[in-house]
Amino acid sequence: MLTELRLTNFRNISAVTVSPALGINLLVGENGSGKTSFLEAVYLLAMGRSFRSRNLKHLIQHGYEHCQVFGRIDRTIPLGIQLGGTAGVQIRLNNAPLKKLSELVLHLPLQYIPANCHQFFEQGPKFRRKVVDWGLFHVEHDFLFHWQNYRKVLQQRNAALRAQKSNKEVSLWDGQLISYGLRLTLYREAYLQEVLQLFQYWFTQICNDYKSASFELRYAPGWPKNTELSVALQSNIDRDRVLGYSRNGPHAADWSIKIDGADPLELLSRGQQKLFYLAISFAQLSLLTKKRQQQSILLIDDISSELDSSHQQLVLAAIKAIGIQTFITTTTDDLQSLLNIQESDAVFHVKQGEVASSHQPMLSTNDDT
Ligand SMILES: Nc1ncnc2c1ncn2[C@@H]1O[C@H](COP(=O)(O)OP(=O)(O)OP(=O)(O)O)[C@@H](O)[C@H]1O
Ligand SMILES: [Mg+2]
Repeated sequence: MLTELRLTNFRNISAVTVSPALGINLLVGENGSGKTSFLEAVYLLAMGRSFRSRNLKHLIQHGYEHCQVFGRIDRTIPLGIQLGGTAGVQIRLNNAPLKKLSELVLHLPLQYIPANCHQFFEQGPKFRRKVVDWGLFHVEHDFLFHWQNYRKVLQQRNAALRAQKSNKEVSLWDGQLISYGLRLTLYREAYLQEVLQLFQYWFTQICNDYKSASFELRYAPGWPKNTELSVALQSNIDRDRVLGYSRNGPHAADWSIKIDGADPLELLSRGQQKLFYLAISFAQLSLLTKKRQQQSILLIDDISSELDSSHQQLVLAAIKAIGIQTFITTTTDDLQSLLNIQESDAVFHVKQGEVASSHQPMLSTNDDT
């Protein structure tokens, strides 16, 4: 977890140093004050990229050449990112330059819940595959190896298709593609079954309306049902040639969870869709804690959008039960009253790029004992 965070010239935040609490960190502030920017800085530190700008130079405060985000993990591990200048992105982990981004990502598993996360269902399969693969990347350390090899072989096969190589030459890649691909599929199916169990628990905790509903995982592996991947690859080779890429395989997989046999997009209200997405995230985070004893970070932007106060309260209670370091932004003071602030929580007021920690009323109760 993050025990120290320092931002310099990051978007509208000129210089801020905070000691985040281990539980819930509430960031309260008006529109445009810098709340999402703060989350973006935490995200950058954990992932080496931004959730809203492809080009990281947009993160540097206008009029400056560089920006820095520095953090300390578990009080001991220093982690710093500097953007700008001719060097571009420089990352230092434990006082040494970082070689691979995947090394960084393994250190601080992070889930980001955007304000419009109910749009989860409208996003394509690519997004849903990323959700699963995030979990597998952290839970199964072998997964990355298979995933990267699969991608490499797929690129080779696609290149052969585009170069109009003979069927025999294209098919040379099939053996490896199938071997890595089936492994990925097994990983994903097994992982999603575990996610389903935990999802069911968390969703019914935060959304009372579906307490007695049945939940069912649908996994489409990326090739036609009841067909071997080898057969699907072979029988579609001419069509793949026309397309210029291999259509079948785990790179085309998709999944969903049906509620009482219905598609959540058809059934659920927008608020319920947000709760659904939150429950998926809670399931993944609690699974990671269970399997790897690894603590992660949760970022929730604008929790109050789409959620009424009783559901916000249930979400806060679930986060407390999972026991995960969380940063939540909100524009109103209402959430403070919903959150039974404890020693492990903190409230920060964000105003025009300044972040001030407010006094915790609950902390003073210690004086009574
Ligand atoms: N590179 C930059 N330099 C300086 N200011 C920036 C930069 N990029 C964005 N800003 C400004 O930073 C401010 C904070 O934006 P941010 O998205 O963090 O606000 P917010 O508190 O999340 O607001 P909302 O409640 O509306 O979501 C905005 O006024 C934005 O225009
Ligand atoms: Mg915002």
